[in-house]
Amino acid sequence: MRKILTVVGARPQFIKAAAVSRVLRAIPAVREVLVHTGQHYDDNMSRVFFEELEIPEPDYHLGIGGGTHGQNTGRMLEAIERVLLGERPDWVLVYGDTDSTLAGALAAAKLHIPVAHVEAGLRSFNRRMPEEINRVLTDHISDLLFGPTETAVQNLLREGISPDRIHLVGDVMYDAALYYGEKAEKHSQILRRLGLVPKGYILATVHRAENTDDPSRLRVILEALAQVHREVPVVIPVHPRTRKRVEALGLLSLLEQLLAVEPVGYLDMVMLEKNAQLIATDSGGVQKEAFFYEVPCITLREETEWVELVELGWNKLCSPERGVEGIVAMIRHSLGTRGRPARLYGEGKAAIRVRNRLLDL
Ligand code: UD1
Ligand code: UDP
Repeated sequence: MRKILTVVGARPQFIKAAAVSRVLRAIPAVREVLVHTGQHYDDNMSRVFFEELEIPEPDYHLGIGGGTHGQNTGRMLEAIERVLLGERPDWVLVYGDTDSTLAGALAAAKLHIPVAHVEAGLRSFNRRMPEEINRVLTDHISDLLFGPTETAVQNLLREGISPDRIHLVGDVMYDAALYYGEKAEKHSQILRRLGLVPKGYILATVHRAENTDDPSRLRVILEALAQVHREVPVVIPVHPRTRKRVEALGLLSLLEQLLAVEPVGYLDMVMLEKNAQLIATDSGGVQKEAFFYEVPCITLREETEWVELVELGWNKLCSPERGVEGIVAMIRHSLGTRGRPARLYGEGKAAIRVRNRLLDL
């Protein structure tokens, strides 16, 4: 019997872990212990994903969220260590680049429990991003590094990580998109609920700290979207971080000019993405999903970790420093454009590869 302890905590991790958990749990000789740090805790940021993606109830819910980076990471580290000392798993499995990822990896590494990192090797080369710190540190204390792309693998090799620890597996989010995409078509009523016409609206998401915590950038983004909304409806499921900043900065009147909704579940999000005319986002996951569904994407950042999307023309970087008119012009210009077709993220078998490598199958 192999015991694998998975640490998740934030929205994108539920989606990534759902894809891997499903194939892990299909093997009778595996016991997966699921730890939810509590980093994301609202029902529409957490519970909805467990229900829709049929993720089993966490074995441990640590209830740690809402603090600063130091508070969250420190409290998670202490609580995860306690769980690890009790469970003594064969592997600790972590995903992506959040504070939960780093806390899980660090707690395990200090106890000499092997760590496997899914979505290893991504780099923005911008150390001001909390995620970049989490990625670099996690990769350097992981025993198995599962890279989604060739670029990610090259980044790891350049940092001197031993090639025998690195495995190019593809992207587990693509696995999830393939598996749940059909389910979304069957179950989601979101277009009808919001009165949207397929290919008749723009989908936007904004939650990155560099955009929400800088009043001028947040204002520019919202003003640009509000201007575009006068021509094409802009739907924006609002991340709780963004909602709080908008309220604190007195920008609610701008948000109210858009079709602003609470965060939506994954199946509704997939439908919103598939049917959008264009996506404007600062999310990592949403950039890729735009490509999966062949929707042009504008990334409201200076750089991206998913550089291949930019190279193929599916994604255009648009720094909020360009100002309101700059963003509006780029959105208008990109409506109706297409990138070059390519297979960038595997064949939907990333989760199976992760499992097989973990279990030496
Ligand atoms: C985190 C990740 C980010 C990821 C994002 C996915 C880090 C450093 N950042 O950012 O990489 O892209 O999740 O969505 O780990 N909040 C709520 N309810 C919730 C969750 C958050 O109100 O359910 C509010 C709280 O005020 C919290 C703030 O949002 O303090 C920020 O949450 P946090 O998890 O620290 O960072 P995210 O911005 O969500
Ligand atoms: N997502 C969702 N509902 C929303 C916004 C996003 O289900 O209201 C999904 C989205 O489809 C993607 C993932 O959440 O699969 C991306 O998470 P997020 O943007 O929070 O984080 P990032 O990928 O930037 O780390």
